[in-house]
Amino acid sequence: MSAAVQGTRGAGSSAHPGAAGGRPGAGAGIRITDLHLAFRGPTTTLDVLDGVSFEVAPREVLALIGPNGSGKSTLLRVAAGLLRPDRGQVTIDGQPVDGPDSRLALVFQEPRLLPWRSAEENVRFPMELAGWPPARQAARAAELLGMVGLRDFAATRPAHLSGGMRQRLAIARALALEPSVLLLDEPFSALDALTRERFNVELLRLWERTGTTIVLVTHSITEAVFVADRVAVLSPRPGHVVGIVPVELPRPRSPAQLDSAIVSRAAAAIRAQLVDTTDDQITLREAMAPSGPGSGAAWIRETAAEAGTAAWFDPFGHEAD
Ligand SMILES: Nc1ncnc2c1ncn2[C@@H]1O[C@H](COP(=O)(O)OP(=O)(O)OP(=O)(O)O)[C@@H](O)[C@H]1O
Ligand SMILES: [Mg+2]
Repeated sequence: MSAAVQGTRGAGSSAHPGAAGGRPGAGAGIRITDLHLAFRGPTTTLDVLDGVSFEVAPREVLALIGPNGSGKSTLLRVAAGLLRPDRGQVTIDGQPVDGPDSRLALVFQEPRLLPWRSAEENVRFPMELAGWPPARQAARAAELLGMVGLRDFAATRPAHLSGGMRQRLAIARALALEPSVLLLDEPFSALDALTRERFNVELLRLWERTGTTIVLVTHSITEAVFVADRVAVLSPRPGHVVGIVPVELPRPRSPAQLDSAIVSRAAAAIRAQLVDTTDDQITLREAMAPSGPGSGAAWIRETAAEAGTAAWFDPFGHEAD
């Protein structure tokens, strides 16, 4: 059985044995337990997470897939300690995440790079803040830029890099302080299909070298199956895990494997979980959302302020809207 649904809503699913490869001890296990979160406005409440639970084993790659608005980005923010849940807990190797935490790094869909700094200076920024001596910063930056194929672009500013290069730079920066867990929010969604496939391969090579535990949010079933050990499927909002599909594709992986029966079976199992999460339902839910004064963008802004998530910028990509 290669693509059975493994876990459902409620308590976290059983731990995965972890993926092969990677530097021993680099990745940590992350456990998400019964997360509930609602955004509250003056008159309305938007339930976004409704009992989300799952575990990611040390050095595992878990893909998270779900319809628009199901709470995936919110979930990553909670996991990274940027948003406090109403209920539930996030732990890394058993230690709670209570706020921004250097054990985790979060990369957003739109890389939050510092435009006035070169690629190298962007990668060095977290090391500067951490007080590393310049020589150590330079050595680590060179290593990271080499790892993501940007060594020749060390002096280039983000505006002169392609979208894909910027995304790689953001990932390199996220890896600067050697996080145990890397949270990636649709990092490749803006790339064309071929580039995206190449980036998926590169991400796996990077993962093999660093051994970092990865949680990857994606809308692409193919990407999820190619990259992940398991794929967690989220329901429409309020989000909860409706199933976890294991992908028993041997590693190291190559795009040629995408034609295999294992991939088709896993993809079919994911599709079956997503079947009830069509855009129509989301449209219906949006149509039922509160209207009138206090609705729309202003309402969301007010809600964000009330939830204590006023806009702030963090060079590591830790940014709340
Ligand atoms: N700061 C906020 N204040 C109020 N509502 C918010 C806030 N952030 C997100 N939301 C709402 O919460 C819901 C979940 O948003 P989220 O961005 O987590 O979804 P998502 O699954 O990442 O969607 P997508 O696939 O489109 O990226 C949406 O209805 C969104 O409008
Ligand atoms: Mg999102």
